Amino acid sequence: MGRSAPTREPVHDGRYEPHDAAARRGIGGQRLCLNALFDPSGQCWFIPAGQPGPEPVTCPARPTLSVVTATEPVIRPAAPADLDAVAEIFTHYVRHTVITFEEIPPPAAAWHQRLDDLAAQELPFLVAESSGEVVGYAYAAPWRPKPAYRHTAENSIYLAPGRTGRGLGGTLLQALLTACTRTHLRQMIALIADTGTDASVALHRSLGFTDVGRLAAVGYKHGRWIDTVLMQRPLNSHTDQ
Ligand SMILES: CC(C)(COP(=O)(O)OP(=O)(O)OC[C@H]1O[C@@H](n2cnc3c(N)ncnc32)[C@H](O)[C@@H]1OP(=O)(O)O)[C@@H](O)C(=O)NCCC(=O)NCCS
Repeated sequence: MGRSAPTREPVHDGRYEPHDAAARRGIGGQRLCLNALFDPSGQCWFIPAGQPGPEPVTCPARPTLSVVTATEPVIRPAAPADLDAVAEIFTHYVRHTVITFEEIPPPAAAWHQRLDDLAAQELPFLVAESSGEVVGYAYAAPWRPKPAYRHTAENSIYLAPGRTGRGLGGTLLQALLTACTRTHLRQMIALIADTGTDASVALHRSLGFTDVGRLAAVGYKHGRWIDTVLMQRPLNSHTDQ
């Protein structure tokens, strides 16, 4: 059976409030996320001006909170205002690589629809933000539409060109996996185009995914046939939190 979705916590100590609530009041937005805390449930806590941060702070009410400072990317739930940057990142890979089998960049409306659809299914869509800029994103989407697949998702993770190879992918994917353990999901699938470079396979393997198959020459893009590698990881609430 699936577990219930995490419950929203109230503003605690009167000092912190959930990031999305701050954003609704018009004081959130990307820049202010620099002074924010991200907890393992996927909740981002906004620290209002005048409160501690970006220096490391401890939240007495929530000792599990990890501290995020202005010098490292913040991982937080995606908001509609992030989607232009998300689209720009993905467009690069659509146009210039065979990592994705999309050939036409999805329009902005498709990203807004995806954000809404995932939220409706209580599936996480996270972004990595650095100095007010969205530098990567990851989400978990249904693996297949047929209902018996409802506890299985496929993850997508893309970093902005120039932000790869520095460990951010690991941080972002781990955050996504952690957020997924708080949902009804039980299995995560990664379907990775075999492009001849190993970063994605290495990343997934380092976070517990195992190889479960290969589909030969199922893609044709930019004048070449491409295999896909299938990887899988159980989502175990006892070891992932
Ligand atoms: C795939 C991606 C998310 C990985 O994130 P990243 O920050 O670049 O990767 P990291 O620096 O965290 O490295 C992850 C692992 O891959 C390894 N790795 C990184 N680049 C590599 C490369 N070119 N070849 C082989 N291994 C590589 C790292 O050593 C690390 O392994 P380790 O944890 O065992 O040390 C990122 O490179 C990216 O966005 N690439 C383009 C889009 C993409 O391929 N998305 C995945 C679609 S399935």
